[in-house]
Amino acid sequence: MDQRRSKWRTVVVAAAVGAGVLSTPQTAAAIDDGLALTPPMGFNNWNSTHCRADFNEAMVKGIADIFVDKGLKDAGYQYVNIDDCWALPQRNEQGDLVPHPERFPNGIKAVADYVHGKGLKFGIYTSAGTKTCNKDGGFPGGLGHEEQDAKLFASWGIDYLKYDNCNNQGVDAKQRYTKMRDALKATGRPIVFSLCEWGQNKPWEWAKDVGHLWRTTGDIGDNWNSMVSIAKRNMVLADYAGPGHWNDPDMLEVGNGGMTDVEYKSHFGLWAIMAAPLLIGADLRKVTPHTFEILGNKDVIAVDQDKLGVQGKAIRSEGGQYVFVKPLSNGDKAVLLFNENDSGAQISTTAQEIGLPKSFAYTVRDLWAKTTAHSAGSISAALPPHGSAMFRVSAGGDWYSYPPAVTAGADAAVLYPGAMPLVTPGKPVTYTTTVRNTGRTPIMNLSAKLFVPDGWSVQAKTSTTKLILAGEKQFQTTWEVNVPTTAEPGRFPVNAAFAYTTPQSRTPVSTGYQTEAVVPGAAPTGVKFLSDHKWLRAVNGHGPVELDTTNGEAKAGDGGPISIRGQKFTKGLGTHAPAHIEYYAGGNCTKVTAVVGIQDNKVNPLSLVTYEVWGDNTKRYESGPVTGTDPAKELSADVTGATVVRLIVTDGGNGKSYDHANWGDLKITCA
Ligand code: GLA
Repeated sequence: MDQRRSKWRTVVVAAAVGAGVLSTPQTAAAIDDGLALTPPMGFNNWNSTHCRADFNEAMVKGIADIFVDKGLKDAGYQYVNIDDCWALPQRNEQGDLVPHPERFPNGIKAVADYVHGKGLKFGIYTSAGTKTCNKDGGFPGGLGHEEQDAKLFASWGIDYLKYDNCNNQGVDAKQRYTKMRDALKATGRPIVFSLCEWGQNKPWEWAKDVGHLWRTTGDIGDNWNSMVSIAKRNMVLADYAGPGHWNDPDMLEVGNGGMTDVEYKSHFGLWAIMAAPLLIGADLRKVTPHTFEILGNKDVIAVDQDKLGVQGKAIRSEGGQYVFVKPLSNGDKAVLLFNENDSGAQISTTAQEIGLPKSFAYTVRDLWAKTTAHSAGSISAALPPHGSAMFRVSAGGDWYSYPPAVTAGADAAVLYPGAMPLVTPGKPVTYTTTVRNTGRTPIMNLSAKLFVPDGWSVQAKTSTTKLILAGEKQFQTTWEVNVPTTAEPGRFPVNAAFAYTTPQSRTPVSTGYQTEAVVPGAAPTGVKFLSDHKWLRAVNGHGPVELDTTNGEAKAGDGGPISIRGQKFTKGLGTHAPAHIEYYAGGNCTKVTAVVGIQDNKVNPLSLVTYEVWGDNTKRYESGPVTGTDPAKELSADVTGATVVRLIVTDGGNGKSYDHANWGDLKITCA
């Protein structure tokens, strides 16, 4: 669709509303009101407190204080929002919502006034249903009370409303949300309207004129799999977002403790490149200085808040390695290189690929390292597992005053792209360090080193130093690492260190790269249920892979017995597309067998997957399409000689919905 033309239509209709010409909600385009021209930034308590008692007036005030004191307000954070559980379960005699007297003894207006007093804005929550979502029964929702509740909120000085979807009584979503939009508009107070409909009715297709942002997915959890699966669902909706109407992949988990700092940086970077709302979900009174560094990174925030308002897209994604690009208003491009995998990865793109004009050189700002370098055209990074790098790239500029951009990393020889760096005790393994000068000018006095765990040995097989490395050239060293026969199973750090000088600066540059070596546990012996054997790693499309039950929903352990067309299995795996589970077989096994199919109580017309079994880098079995009505299928795969056996479920090409894929009676036969 032609964005510009549709926006124009909206502008015309909005002007007509302003002149009091139109009044029917169907045609009103009240949302083109100048609010949320960049994605909303602020705070919401839900991800850290849920309904716990520490969600109260003191918390909200504390957050507002911290926004000011820690520079977050300066960085652009504006809305301090409260979520579910702020009210009593019953309305009062006048039918008004009543603030919870213990949490908010002075009422909501007093808190809003406090927040406003800090130069910030205040937001509230309710549901487009008869009750809200909280499991203890919920408090009264807005369905049928839209005008009364909107008026009350406006009288308290509310600036933002998150409107949830629970207990909606089956009433059409567009109708429910439009009703509240009109009620908010009728108050005359500018209120950002956030649709929390979880993407159930594809709000991106109809909510542009209803709300300023709409949730695209179910709730985020404070863990890597949840965050990544939500990012993947949100990223394909880029074309629907723009100033005043944003895709909302849910509030941030940064700082809540369930991910590493590397992972939280990837989370924050993904949200920023996708022009997502940045609503902090951690209790800032309790977080580490690192959390403030991530949330307060003004260069990353500037990407999110760029006034062009384009949601960045993944222009390339293969095997868990992503190149995201977001055009910026001054002609620069923001780039996010993202490594979803459990193993390190060197990811590259070029100025041409990201759509910058031809230039002799480019200026590359590293938004996390806060350094600026120049490049002849390639933009690359050596990334740790789950890591990302974020750059702002401009054509030309005064590039010659900056040193060349250099990427330095280390890789183990692996069985297939993206594989874990497995090492076998007693056997030597090769690592390669690579230094790439992507600039136009040389770097000098280059040296590389590799460090292994105590008791292991490492020896360089080729030169470790180079006097001059010209622009657009790379320098590699191969290393032989010996793992003692006594090494226990586990993941061990292998660190590379590099030093060099550049013509642009007097001080030597030193950089490091951390990779690892994985010592696997013993391979299975005899005939074993794989659900009784520890996997090397597992990735699942929705919630975790479950042992001996089906995959339920997002929570761990919430699946029931495995059941395929009435056939029940007490052993097996419950997965959800796209899934990838790896077992160490050490060349010791010959066969994998299972009975596969979609879980009975999760069957939907959209259920469609394929099952694959791989031995290292070769596919040993493929099921073809499996739908929710297909009978249970006998699977048998010859895995002779494989070091790693990989079980894969794809989404069958129709998206990863309703793909609860069972592996009943899953067994491996080994020596
Ligand atoms: C739903 C929403 C969450 C949160 C809770 C509150 O699950 O999606 O973001 O607001 O309700 O109960």
